[in-house]
Parts: sequence; C-alpha cells; structure tokens
Amino acid sequence: MADKRVLLIVGGGVAAYKALELTRLLRKAGVGVRPILTSAGAQFVTPLSLAALAEDKVYSELFSLTDEAEMGHIQLSRFADLVVVVPATADLMAKAAHGLAGDLASTTLLATDKPVLMAPAMNVRMWEHAATKRNLATLKADGVAFVGPDEGAMACGEYGPGRMAEPAVIFEAIMGMLAGTSAPAAEKGPLSGRRAIVTAGPTAEPIDPVRYLTNRSSGKQGYAIAEALAALGCEVTLVSGPTALSAPAGVKRVQVETARQMLAACQAALPADLAVCVAAVADWRPADEGAVKIKKTGDAPPALRLVENPDILATLSAAGPDRPGLVVGFAAETNDVEAYAQAKLARKGCDWIVANDVSVEGVMGGDDNTVSIVSATGVERWDKTAKSDVAAKLAQRMAKALA
Ligand code: CTP
Repeated sequence: MADKRVLLIVGGGVAAYKALELTRLLRKAGVGVRPILTSAGAQFVTPLSLAALAEDKVYSELFSLTDEAEMGHIQLSRFADLVVVVPATADLMAKAAHGLAGDLASTTLLATDKPVLMAPAMNVRMWEHAATKRNLATLKADGVAFVGPDEGAMACGEYGPGRMAEPAVIFEAIMGMLAGTSAPAAEKGPLSGRRAIVTAGPTAEPIDPVRYLTNRSSGKQGYAIAEALAALGCEVTLVSGPTALSAPAGVKRVQVETARQMLAACQAALPADLAVCVAAVADWRPADEGAVKIKKTGDAPPALRLVENPDILATLSAAGPDRPGLVVGFAAETNDVEAYAQAKLARKGCDWIVANDVSVEGVMGGDDNTVSIVSATGVERWDKTAKSDVAAKLAQRMAKALA
C-alpha cells in the first residue's frame, strides 16, 4: 500500500478525534494521507495534530492564495486514490448530495472523479431525518461507499444509530477499497464476490403467545463482524435474533425470533463461502408452545418442559456439498478456554472457534475482548483489544483464509 494515497476530509463533529487514530493507522500501513480540515472540523481537532500524524500539510481554505498556488482543489483530488470523509456530518452529506461547492471540502468532493468513502456521524435524530435519508440514497446512487454508522451511546447523551464506525473498521474499509482499483469496497474488496452468513443476537423461544425465553446477548459482536466483512466487499446475510441494533450499511439482514427460524434463514442463505455463528442461540425451547395465553388457575404453577433446539453451527458444518468453505463458531469460557474450545471444535465440526476469555476483567459487557482463534492447526492468541478491532481483524483473517 506504500504507493496508495488518501485524501482525508475531516468534518466538524465530536467523532473528528477518531480521524487522528485513522490517520495513524493509515500511515503505519504506509498509506499517504493528505488532510482537508473543514472550519467546523478545526473546532474539534487541531491542524497541528492532524499534520503531525499525517506527516503532510493540512489544507483548509478554498481561497487561500498559498494553498491554491501550491496545490489547488483539483490537484488535491488528483493526488488521491481515494477520498475519505471522516466524520461525514449531516451537513457534508447534504452538500455532497446536492453538489454544493462553497468551501474546500465540498468543492473537492464535487471536483473529484476518485472513489469516495464516507463514515457518517451525527445525532440519531439527524441520521433518521427524511432529509438525511434522501441524501444518503442520492450519494449511494452516485456511487459513494459508506462505512457505519454504528449504534451506541453518543456524545449528545442519546443512544441510537449515528455513532461513527471505529477507526479500525474504517481502516479496513479503506484498505479494501485501495486493494481494488477504483470501485467502492462493496464491489472490489478482498472478499468481493464472496458470500457470508453471520448469525447474531439472542433467540426468543415462545412459551405462549405473550411469553418467551431468551438471554442477554446484545448482538454487538455479530453485527460488528457482519459490518467488517461487508467493508471488505463481502455479500453478507446477517441472520439476527431480536436486538436493539440497526442493520449495518451494505448488509442484508433477516430478522428471526426462534432458533428454528434462525436455522431455516441460514439454510435459505446457502450457498455461502463463509458462515460465522455468533448468535447466542437458546439451547432449549419450551416443548409445547400454547396457542393461547397460559392462565393462573390457583393450582400449582405450570411445569415448563424443555426440548433441545437445533444446533445451527453444527448443522451448517455438516451441510454436505452446501457446507461453507469456512465455518466459524464462538465460545465464551471462564476457564480452560483453549481445551474447551478444542473440544467444541470437534463436537461442532467447524473450522475455527473464536474463544472469548470472559474471566478477563472488562470483557463481559465491556468494550474490549480477549480472544484466541482455535483451529485444527493450533491456537492463535490475540492481545486484549477493542471489540470493534476484533471484528476488523477477524474479517481480515477470514479473507486471508479464503484467498
Ligand atoms: N450455536 C448454534 N446453535 C445452537 C447453539 C450454539 O449455532 N443451538 C453456536 C453459537 O452461535 C456459537 C457456538 O455454537 O458459535 C457456541 O456453542 P455452545 O455449545 O452454545 O457453547 P456454550 O453455550 O458455551 O456451550 P457449553 O457451555 O456447553 O460449552
């Protein structure tokens, strides 16, 4: 990637600080970064930090005599293999969708004939506003690629979709696009032409029409993996149990409730090159789902008889000629992590088990994870890292295994 260059437009939003980490990751990978900092962006990160990390001059003014003399807005676009907007604010998206050109960032977006990747970040209500939806659809139709946004807690104190994708995920999307020629990641990443099935979230198993059995899975890790695979150009079917998350951009989501529905949706999505079972599937379901609500009778409480659910991971691993080339399962263990994972690998017939050590402080419910990749060839231990990094690294690792 030493000969690749990114023109990085930093918009004005709290997420602008993540542009610094992204710049560091790109430079570490040998990618040239030339930053354009909008005046709103400069309220959040300083030109000096950006210049130091990019090891290049920061451009910010359209009518700067010196900038135009050295490198006009047209040359800025010519310099780059890819234009990346981080964060893509509602304002920048609106300007780009309408072809406005009142400042250096929007003029460059209008003047460029290079592929463009946007990482949106904004308040959930702004993201969900009809105007932003229209602009998003217009930009997509114009060929702009998107990564994120994620769902999560926001600086404004609200919760929902609109939080910018993590730098590691944006980095992988950029690497995917740079690895292609000039088309968006969805067409040209290292997993382009590949199909993946990802299961995520809990399942809900009905007891009667109003009650069900479920678990506390948030679905975050599975959604992050689906997003990271899509960022590498993979065609992803995300089979999801009930979660509060919105579907990652570029991912086909099939929403299900029960384990049996999840299995059927996975089987319907075959053939696939890759299956990643991250869902916390309920091991058992009530044997009899009553057609009517169970009423209190005054007698002893009703007995709940359970029967075993189908094992989706094991079924996909034994799908004969339809078996995906790489089948990956997850395991959460508190002790003897690798021994249990080896046993699970054999029992399920999958190719890798991604084993979480949930005894490590901060893993359960936190943002970090400590995982080992267990396969027939041995164990690969990864250092404790952010869950979003785990997804991005796993997607890269899967792309390599399928190459
Ligand atoms: N899995 C599945 N279908 C099931 C149960 C589990 O696809 N009915 C998948 C999960 O998505 C995950 C892996 O199998 O990839 C986890 O295996 P599981 O047997 O559920 O692990 P644990 O519950 O951790 O099992 P144990 O504690 O018995 O080792």
